[in-house]
Amino acid sequence: MIRLDDPCSLSLLFHLNSEPWLNDDAYHRGAPGPHEHVGPSGAAVSLPHVTPGPLDELAARRRSCRAYERAQLPLATVAAFLASAYGIVEAVPGAGSTRLLRRTVPSAGGLFPLELLVFLRRVDDLDDGVYRYDPVGHVLELLDGGDQFATVLAPTLYAYPFIEDANGFLAIAAVFRRTQQKYGPRGYRYILLEAGHVGQHLALRGVELGLGTLCIGGFTDAALNASLGLDVRRAGVVYGVGFGLARGDDHPPTSDPGSDPRREG
Ligand SMILES: Cc1cc2nc3c(=O)[nH]c(=O)nc-3n(C[C@H](O)[C@H](O)[C@H](O)COP(=O)(O)O)c2cc1C
Repeated sequence: MIRLDDPCSLSLLFHLNSEPWLNDDAYHRGAPGPHEHVGPSGAAVSLPHVTPGPLDELAARRRSCRAYERAQLPLATVAAFLASAYGIVEAVPGAGSTRLLRRTVPSAGGLFPLELLVFLRRVDDLDDGVYRYDPVGHVLELLDGGDQFATVLAPTLYAYPFIEDANGFLAIAAVFRRTQQKYGPRGYRYILLEAGHVGQHLALRGVELGLGTLCIGGFTDAALNASLGLDVRRAGVVYGVGFGLARGDDHPPTSDPGSDPRREG
């Protein structure tokens, strides 16, 4: 029996045992059936016609990008992309003399368990390397220098061939105790949900910035975490997003050609 005052062991057991599932029987069972309806049915009510707003238009243009150009990215584009994902938007008074730094995404208990670790290359005025994005200072901290796509990402990401020419891969890592100290095993759900919020921001802001994105859940956890120096009992990558300049038809349509950051490498 796991002790009630042990907030992390139960979810850690699941987390460490959910490496990609190499179960051929399950994968090759054929096409999925029709969507199963769950819950009671009732009479249908027609809804008013919807006029798409700016967010709807970004969402309509979002798609997974699986081919990238080998080109340079302006640092300002990367900065805008990261700030949209997890940046600070406002400081509000918290309990006592504390300040709560509100961000672009909600977070259970305002605990913000995620860390953005980003592999970058071919970015103007920035050395290739692996960086940590610090949203408080809006700075990139260099963790490890050099282009690590072929050495680290190729062997750990199943989708690597799709992003082999991309400019970046953003690993969304969780520090489990930040949230689970308060919410226990249920906090693990919150962490995954929060990573989804960040991923959607990246995908939509990517469209706005003229970037292609690919959300990636298929990676070998142990190897990726080890390459990032994460202690797997305390922290781990839960989601990833590849990004860069989309090649050819994979380029999302841009409404403002002036904002297209595409450049020759
Ligand atoms: C949680 C999650 C994990 C995903 N993991 C992968 C992945 O590992 N490799 C990949 O090529 N696509 C991955 N995708 C992208 C989906 O395949 C894609 O969103 C889906 O086919 C719908 O296409 P669209 O994004 O172009 O609308 C993932 C998407 C989500 C939401």
